[in-house]
Amino acid sequence: MDIGDSNLDSEATIKVGTVAPTGEPCEELYPPPCCMVIFGASGDLTRRKLMPALYRLTKDKILPDNFFVVGAARTEMDDNGFRRMMEDAVKEVKNFDAKAWKEFSKRLFYRKIDYSKDTFENIKKLLDEKEEQFGTGRNRLFYLATPPSAYSGIIETLGSRGLSEEGEGWSRIVIEKPYGHDLESAKRLEEVVLKNFDEQQVYRIDHYLGKETVQNIMMLRFANLIFEPIWNRRYIDHVQITVAESMGIEGRAGYYEQAGVLRDMFQNHILQVLAFIAMEPPSIYESELVRDERVKVFRALRPIDINKLSESLVIGQYAAGEVGGKAAQGYIEEEGVAKDSMVPTFAALKVFVDNWRWQDVPFYLRSGKRLSEKFSQVTIQFKGVPHQMFRETLAAEIGPNAFILRIQPDERVQLRFHTKNPGSKVCLRDVLMDFPYMQGYTGIELSDYERVLIDCMLGDKMLFVRRDGMELAWGFLTPILKAAERGPLRPEVDLYKAGSYGPFEADKLLQKDGRRWVNL
Ligand code: BG6
Repeated sequence: MDIGDSNLDSEATIKVGTVAPTGEPCEELYPPPCCMVIFGASGDLTRRKLMPALYRLTKDKILPDNFFVVGAARTEMDDNGFRRMMEDAVKEVKNFDAKAWKEFSKRLFYRKIDYSKDTFENIKKLLDEKEEQFGTGRNRLFYLATPPSAYSGIIETLGSRGLSEEGEGWSRIVIEKPYGHDLESAKRLEEVVLKNFDEQQVYRIDHYLGKETVQNIMMLRFANLIFEPIWNRRYIDHVQITVAESMGIEGRAGYYEQAGVLRDMFQNHILQVLAFIAMEPPSIYESELVRDERVKVFRALRPIDINKLSESLVIGQYAAGEVGGKAAQGYIEEEGVAKDSMVPTFAALKVFVDNWRWQDVPFYLRSGKRLSEKFSQVTIQFKGVPHQMFRETLAAEIGPNAFILRIQPDERVQLRFHTKNPGSKVCLRDVLMDFPYMQGYTGIELSDYERVLIDCMLGDKMLFVRRDGMELAWGFLTPILKAAERGPLRPEVDLYKAGSYGPFEADKLLQKDGRRWVNL
């Protein structure tokens, strides 16, 4: 029996109280003086994620006064035009404070550039001038928020203009996903990057690693004694990692038609979460050692047998339906999508980690757009009790325990177990011990992007993807992508209704193993 079948008593949720934080007060870390140059400054990522994050960090006084931003893009505009564009975007954030914005916007500058030509002279000149004015000590963070086709040209120009050199200050480059399209293109990009920057200057970003609950996986596992002894094949039946989204492609057809869900969510976010769940404890909490352990998980991923791909992979595409009470169009009706597009917007993949701890424990990974709700969670489902001692007394079989790490929308840790139902008759109750992650916390709440931006400025690479990890993740996924996109055994793209939990075939993937997905 699996957890989907058991009768959770919805009234029986046990709240978990917080005890005082351990040890010294947990103080915020403050980045040093620096500047940030954003390429792709008029784009969606800058407006939706980067600028709101920088604004909040300034408002919360986490960024120093000696900090400024240079936006660079192809759009023709001046500093004031850029400030207005950014204000419109940032206004959307909760608790927008016009006064704080005004102060922050004085530190925003803009230069038009042409990515295909070496036109960075204007940026260099501006940096020299503003660095003097703001006293940023020539610490420079270059952020690639452009379409990936522009990456190589920008990196080459930064190199040839001497902007990647370190001397008086540091020079770092942040590279957004998608980092290549497959293993070969990722390696080609890698060559350009490492010709112009040293690996220690490169920050391959995956914003999922900036999510509190993803980092919390390590604390839960390695700062407690009680979980680790049972965190293995002896006690764990299987693991589910779900990243479900209710939104569609939000006008990003140009990108999504090339990417699809496997590149968009699996190569990076989902595999990274898997690495945190499956990794071994490093000897010390130090960036390179933690990254070593994550990389070892990728090295242990069992290659999928392409000849039996459909036994491990289900892909789907959303058809018209209803999400949150509103009509939603199908993927192929979205603007910019080819009418006969076979690009998957949903995938469910069964993988194994071949090592002593995880041998033969399936990890079921699932992600999709236009599903019934937005939620990301990891479910560790334990095996059943070895002996059903209550079989004579209870009508139902005893379901297994589960440990649920909710990443979004609300961050919580939940443990599902059985107790006796109060009363004279012996009955079991399936209950949930529930810890809302932010309970009792009164400090500053950082979004995923805020967190990773601070780390780039501090030079802490723990939450970034290392070259070997990136290549191994692509190495695992590329044969699957090739087979799924062009191979003779290419699986069907199953349609699912917008607002559902994905195609029925994804349920079958687990059902044939005697299991069920755990939803919200
Ligand atoms: C991005 C993907 O990396 O992550 C998007 O490109 C996706 O398609 C997004 O919507 C999800 O991030 P989050 O933080 O909203 O779960």
